[in-house]
Amino acid sequence: MKAHIQTLLDSAIATLQQQGVLPGDLKVSIQVTDTKDKAHGDFASNLALALGKQAGMNPRELAAQLIAALPGSSQLDKTEIAGPGFINFFIHSDALTATLEAMLTDNNLGVTKAENPQTIVVDFSSPNLAKEMHVGHLRSTVIGDAVARTLEYLGHKTIRQNHVGDWGTQFGMLLAYMEERRAAGEEPRMVLSDLEAFYRAAKSRFDESEDFADRARKMVVALQSGDKECLQLWQQFIDISMSHCQAVYDHLGVNLTRDDVRAESAYNDDLPKIIAALKEKNLLTEDQGAQCVFLDEFKGRDDKPLPLIVQKKDGGYLYATTDLAAIRYRVQELNADRILYFVDARQGDHFKMVFAVAKKAGFAKLETRLEHMGFGTVNGKDGKPFKTREGTSVKLSGLLDEAEKRAYELVKEKNPDLPENELKEIGRVVGIASVKYADLSKNRNSDYIFDWDLMLSFDGNTAPYLLYAYTRIASIFQRGNIDAEKLDGEIILEKEQETDLANQLTKFSEVLNKVAERGQPHLLCSYLYDLAGQFSSFYENCPVLNAEDEDMKNSRLRLSSLTANILKQGLHLLGIETLERM
Ligand code: ARG
Repeated sequence: MKAHIQTLLDSAIATLQQQGVLPGDLKVSIQVTDTKDKAHGDFASNLALALGKQAGMNPRELAAQLIAALPGSSQLDKTEIAGPGFINFFIHSDALTATLEAMLTDNNLGVTKAENPQTIVVDFSSPNLAKEMHVGHLRSTVIGDAVARTLEYLGHKTIRQNHVGDWGTQFGMLLAYMEERRAAGEEPRMVLSDLEAFYRAAKSRFDESEDFADRARKMVVALQSGDKECLQLWQQFIDISMSHCQAVYDHLGVNLTRDDVRAESAYNDDLPKIIAALKEKNLLTEDQGAQCVFLDEFKGRDDKPLPLIVQKKDGGYLYATTDLAAIRYRVQELNADRILYFVDARQGDHFKMVFAVAKKAGFAKLETRLEHMGFGTVNGKDGKPFKTREGTSVKLSGLLDEAEKRAYELVKEKNPDLPENELKEIGRVVGIASVKYADLSKNRNSDYIFDWDLMLSFDGNTAPYLLYAYTRIASIFQRGNIDAEKLDGEIILEKEQETDLANQLTKFSEVLNKVAERGQPHLLCSYLYDLAGQFSSFYENCPVLNAEDEDMKNSRLRLSSLTANILKQGLHLLGIETLERM
């Protein structure tokens, strides 16, 4: 509906421009908002206020002219000028029921697909390998997945890229340690559970011995210049580490596979070419032996220019060099129109500089949208980064097991009569959903506190609340023995709660478009939470199975079924499974 009103306003502006009432060179961004008080209509726009300034016109007068120039629309009941020059729009009640009818018969639930589908690369998860995935990887993985699912649903060509760190100095350390153990006559077993311990042992050797550290650094050079034996051993570390990541993705129900991995090492051969290209564009400056790019817009303290270092004195390349190569690949080979990076907010400066250099160097087009979708930290109840009691990082695999166990106990307590296998399944779905939803429902820009009790609560904006709301609707259909697919008849909106629910239902498409635009799944969470709340008040005030007559019953069943479908689809886009009973 908002989009419809925007189109109407667009055309009114064009008419006034043709008539010479408005100048031709206006900067217009049309804003249509929901009204708080329905006495002032359903939607409002401040367009006349915004344009009045530019055109030097009285806003109320301009509002009147705009209204006069609006093309006719069967969906509008009337328009009104309010206050200093707002335009209020009253929707024809038939328009609301017509929208609902259309949503009910549409497989996409009335979601408008992108008019111009884009190719969008989503860079997410991207852990550094050789260590187990920990709670710090949760946010990128689940938020990135939810946004990728939403973009796909809206019809964009969505390319997932897991930019795993498999090429850094940590591998020199692991290889050097392996060599040392072998020299001592051991053949360390390369199994997953040992990898972490192996890493720790290598790290402490690295920290304690200058000699060892030296060998480790030499190993990196050997590896990066293609030494066969090193590469073979390195590949084994990578395979173990990647299979661990894949197990976590599968457990989480995140859509990532080996095919989505394009690791840092994949860009190895491109790195010298990136340096050459920067040189050719005259963007390189040598500073204390290192190759740097200085851009005017990046200054540190004392107004000193900040360098983006792309090659070290010893010839080694850096994280930034690989990111430049990745951008070039994504734009030139994958044809990305837009690249989204779901990476810790603390890497903000890195991305700002890399994006600016990529554009200057022509690795990305000027119009390519490069967006760092930063996120805050997962904290413990003490407000500090979430750690185990021993102070080590919390491993994701263990965290997910614990979530399932806690959810299982909770459901068992509420529902002891359910068969054991069903309890287990419900525990799995609710547990995983709770961890993911707790993360997704927070604005990603802020830190949040990891709290088992809150996330597993059946009250508030939580996964259990939403999953339960969905099963409640499902149970109406089970009790009434009704096939939702076979319902027909008209939608009748009589009571206030019915209209409120109806209005909320029609906003689904708009919310998804916002999630796609801003990369913020918490907007979808809030929407679903509000929807579930509105359904609750509807259900309390408007009898469904016991409605006064058959027409009313059908109408309410259809509203219920649309609510259930949107809850299910919305949760699915967040990467959350639903249950038919719990
Ligand atoms: N591996 C990096 C880290 O753990 C994140 C990579 C994010 N993606 C990127 N293209 N830089 O910090």
